[in-house]
Amino acid sequence: MSDNPALNSINTLIIGDIIGRAGRVALKDHLPRLIDRHQIDFVIANGENMAAGFGTNARLADEMFELGVNVLTNGNHCWDQRDFLEQIDEDDRLIRPMNFSAYAPGRGWTIQETASGDRIAVINLIGQVFMGMGWDCPFAAVERALEEIPDDIKIIIVDMHAEASSEKMGIGWFLDGKASFVYGTHTHIPTCDEIIHPSGTAYQSDIGMTGSYHSIIGMKVESALKRMVQKLPQRFEAVERGASIFATMVKINTQTGMALAIERIHIPPA
Ligand SMILES: [Fe+2]
Ligand SMILES: [Fe+2]
Repeated sequence: MSDNPALNSINTLIIGDIIGRAGRVALKDHLPRLIDRHQIDFVIANGENMAAGFGTNARLADEMFELGVNVLTNGNHCWDQRDFLEQIDEDDRLIRPMNFSAYAPGRGWTIQETASGDRIAVINLIGQVFMGMGWDCPFAAVERALEEIPDDIKIIIVDMHAEASSEKMGIGWFLDGKASFVYGTHTHIPTCDEIIHPSGTAYQSDIGMTGSYHSIIGMKVESALKRMVQKLPQRFEAVERGASIFATMVKINTQTGMALAIERIHIPPA
């Protein structure tokens, strides 16, 4: 075994919320090449907005798996497509926040393997601040997940789906030295605060969406703006083309599970 930690490492690529057709098409156009160019071993994306902005389903999930995504996390839009209530239990690459109600279908964490046999645990959490619904405590939930995940799994990646940066930073520090990468999704806006904490956990408050930024968080401006200005109900529609990909690469030491490097990438629309 080499003493050089870079030789005992894997490259992960994390994609935030994929917004509707625009996001899916951008990944179809770019993801296989990105995986190749950066020698990516493992890809995680958040699927909560894949179906025209609202939820996902097994067919869309399979499209992403074929492009090279290994695990799809979720969020507050998890059940927008009713079929997904049953579909989520049929594929262990699909996870939903661990701190959903104890009565919810699906699982809050999964373990998947890279092509070279490294095993990676992915945990999904949802915030309690400004997120409605009264979710269970994400701190207690992630402690439970860490107890359940076998000790020989060193690489642990956590999607904290939440509105408040402070709550996401709280989870990041709570898991310093216990997870490889803790990152936020849900706001759809990338943050440039990527860092490696003192005990080796990489952190970023939000990956940002893969969707059109000529929008209001992925939705057509006109109806979103009308709702804000008039305070009247409006149907939101996802912008269907011109997506940017925002994603983050993290190199992780496979022996210790700790992060060696973190780098954001941006692919602008064609
Ligand atoms: Fe989202
Ligand atoms: Fe969300």
